[in-house]
Amino acid sequence: MLSFRSCSVFAAIVASISIQSTAFSISSARSTINFNRDWKFFKGNPPGAEKPEFVDSAWQNVRLPHDWAIAGPFNPREQGGTGKLPWKGEGWYRKTFVLDTADSTRRVYFDFDGVMAFPKVYVNGRLAGQWDYGYMSFRVDATPFVRFGKSNSIAVYVDTRDHVSRWYPGAGIYRKVTMTVCDPVHVAHWGIFVTTPMVTPTSAKIRTRSTVGNHSRTRAPVIIETRVIGPDGKTAAKGEKSDTIPADSSRTFDRTFTIASPLLWEIRSPRLYTARTSIRCGGKIIYVDSTAFGIRTARFSPDSGFFLNGKHVQIQGVCLHHDQGPLGAAFNTRAMERQLQIMRSMGVNGIRTSHNPPAPGLLELCDRMGFVVWDELFDKWDGTADRIKGQSPFEPYVKRQALNWVMRDRNHPSVVIWSIGNEIPPQPHDTNGTSPERVKFLTDCVRASDSTRPVTMASDNQDVVGRSILDALDAGGWNYGRRYMRFHQQYPKKSILYSESASALSTRGFYELPLPYEKTQYSRQAQVDSYDFNAAPWSDIPDAEFALMEQDKFVAGDFVWTGFDYLGEPTPFFNEARSSFFGIVDLCGIPKDRYYLYRSHWRPDTTTIHIVPHWNWPDRIGKTVPVLVYTNGDSAVLFLNGKSLGGRKKGVPDPKPANLASGKKATASSEEPDSGKVAGKAIDGKSETHWCAGSPGANQWWQMDLGKAESLQCLTAEFESGSKNYAYRIKASADSAIWQTITEGTMSNSRRWAGPERIFLDVSLQARFLRIEFTNVREGMRAGIKEFAAYASRMEPSYYDVTCRYRLRWNNVAYAPGELKAVAYNKGKLIGESTVRTAEKPASIRLTPDRKELAATGEDLCYLLVESVDAKGTICPLADNAITFTIDGPADLAGADNGDPQSLEPFQSASHRLFKGKAMLVIRTREGKTGTVRVTARSEGLLPGEARMQSK
Ligand code: GAL
Repeated sequence: MLSFRSCSVFAAIVASISIQSTAFSISSARSTINFNRDWKFFKGNPPGAEKPEFVDSAWQNVRLPHDWAIAGPFNPREQGGTGKLPWKGEGWYRKTFVLDTADSTRRVYFDFDGVMAFPKVYVNGRLAGQWDYGYMSFRVDATPFVRFGKSNSIAVYVDTRDHVSRWYPGAGIYRKVTMTVCDPVHVAHWGIFVTTPMVTPTSAKIRTRSTVGNHSRTRAPVIIETRVIGPDGKTAAKGEKSDTIPADSSRTFDRTFTIASPLLWEIRSPRLYTARTSIRCGGKIIYVDSTAFGIRTARFSPDSGFFLNGKHVQIQGVCLHHDQGPLGAAFNTRAMERQLQIMRSMGVNGIRTSHNPPAPGLLELCDRMGFVVWDELFDKWDGTADRIKGQSPFEPYVKRQALNWVMRDRNHPSVVIWSIGNEIPPQPHDTNGTSPERVKFLTDCVRASDSTRPVTMASDNQDVVGRSILDALDAGGWNYGRRYMRFHQQYPKKSILYSESASALSTRGFYELPLPYEKTQYSRQAQVDSYDFNAAPWSDIPDAEFALMEQDKFVAGDFVWTGFDYLGEPTPFFNEARSSFFGIVDLCGIPKDRYYLYRSHWRPDTTTIHIVPHWNWPDRIGKTVPVLVYTNGDSAVLFLNGKSLGGRKKGVPDPKPANLASGKKATASSEEPDSGKVAGKAIDGKSETHWCAGSPGANQWWQMDLGKAESLQCLTAEFESGSKNYAYRIKASADSAIWQTITEGTMSNSRRWAGPERIFLDVSLQARFLRIEFTNVREGMRAGIKEFAAYASRMEPSYYDVTCRYRLRWNNVAYAPGELKAVAYNKGKLIGESTVRTAEKPASIRLTPDRKELAATGEDLCYLLVESVDAKGTICPLADNAITFTIDGPADLAGADNGDPQSLEPFQSASHRLFKGKAMLVIRTREGKTGTVRVTARSEGLLPGEARMQSK
């Protein structure tokens, strides 16, 4: 069995030489080469595929990064948890390359940023290295296996069958690969560590630690020069040291520099320095390494949150899974940059790489763009971490992964905290779970390679607090529901981050009336309404989280679950959908309404005036449609077709309607007088007291008399236990002789969260008597009601009271087609206005590219927003036209989607339906091929849309 090769060896990046052919001639001090081109791929496991002579001419030509499963097809019968895509299986990648004889004394390494999963790397038919955890980068030392001056083969076997996932993981060599050819004396793999132990506005100390290995059979007298290069490209400090490194060993060189007037790494101006390490031997430079770093201090305070360079920064973060929507798991720098740009435009300053080490390219972007990062090692410590039962004992396994992870990521100024896992249940309940010893062990592993950042993990189970399990952590990470409070009380000296907030749910552009009365009242259409009233049962609407973060100043900030929709985990519609509803933007990056809610709160100085919903309600003429305005202003006035519908001000709640049932008379088929559970207790305004039938079983009823006929709009009933435990009928009558059934409830065995305790009914009736008949009751239970109420208008649960602080609401706008306009103010000053219009029927397609100039690298992307508009150019918010794309010129289709979590159209198909008026097409440039790229979008009966871009 080969040992895992990764940490004993060498790396770093000096020159990235892009070459077309597969023959490499290496003449510089050291070369790191993009090794992504010209691979062959096969899905399956044919015998002998590792052998150089294996014939792969019929295999698919691919360019890495590559995710074999994203092309689909979707399998509608698969559950949606991992996206209904074919990611499980085996696959092979093969490529040949030639090495120059002039390099025959050099070392040859392959660096894999990530392979999903369990890769085995064969060079010239022999196993040269392997790894297990699909999210971890690793290095393979190919030196003993290569031949110089001849053709070489590399073959990579990938097997995802043992990988376990709670989301779509992707499959294959889904991150970049590089080949490094260098002198036997070189900087060790991830062997540079730069820290800034002292930072003030006037000076900074920079400490560099360089580990240099000598892989030759003779001693090597070397001079190591370290140069600190400022953001302006000028040398800010330099120094050198000489030493002799004995054969087959390594030496560590430490240097400390003091520089004046450091340019700090800040969120708004993320300035980067470079530590350039060169190794000289015999008067020749034999190796050069450049490591980017930032000068900054990052401190978490248990009482007052997070401080960057001594200044308080509220972390406004999002959790991101690693997929890039229609492109799948295959990492693409531009796709990631665009994700971050969209998040930044909403006010995001922090990213949690949930729940795994990201592609290194993500951290490079965060360094450059100024995001702080919660860098996470694992979801669970089980099969999701690619630990195989009985084969991967905890300690050596996690130690090996933690070592690669921390050494790889520790120079990034963006990384401010390490997380060793997410929501891991405790032992012995879960054999892969947490214990004080395991948390300490893993925390110590992290600290052994970096003691400058705190170590945390994301927890959800408050029961572990007080059992010493989290003692070893520096900071607490807590998911949802203000669960951090118990930890805060137990460990007042430890800081806290709200590692997951919200888990709010919505489908872009989908609205359904009446509004839900509960966060878990979802649409029956397997979509989630976009009025932002829904969340998962364990979590909350954004407004509730805004209020918490304003109140709990000791929390460093929150990471919203999630910034983007992602493939898999389509809570609460695991059977029906393929992608999540959690995102603030949809799977293609198109903002949902929630985006504007966050932006209005997170960017108080930027004008946001956004109206919810669209204004195309042909079925509701004369009926009411609630309207919301998300704005950074404090008030707004709404106009419908020029007529004012009045103003609203943040913080001013709508008055609640009176409960007409309160204190009235009630009777029942039977009751429990001894225990006080009599009929009248169900309308005494207290949910702690209740009516209960005198005996278990069905055929019981409860009835009340309002005293006179009332006009009713809303009824609520809170059952003795969850409503799904009863089959019932709710009836109304004017005279208690003729009854009208308002609703019927059925008993359900569904384990899904389908049974709220309290039901809310929108009604429109005149009635004096109201009655509940229990036609069935779960075995052993009794019919019973905690509280019943009747209202003359919609009665919203107090859960939603908080919305009045962050949204402006007009709950009963009588719909008429035309123009709805919001004029917003802040402290009495006009800040702007926004309008939505009723669209006529679709007339043409509009294509809007995100950029007009593209780089002919073969990796650059253009995202084209596809919309259906009417003859006046108004977006048609309900359009679902089928669109066909053609691309002329040097670019190819990379993916397309419409953000509908239920869509099973293959991402790589050139035709796509619009969803709620929109879709997204992604095209990729061709390497070295320049010229005009023309994209046309056609649909029957519509004028085509066209866009032109230049690939340069
Ligand atoms: C959390 C979990 C996340 C995601 C989320 C959905 O409990 O950590 O990975 O599953 O729930 O709400």
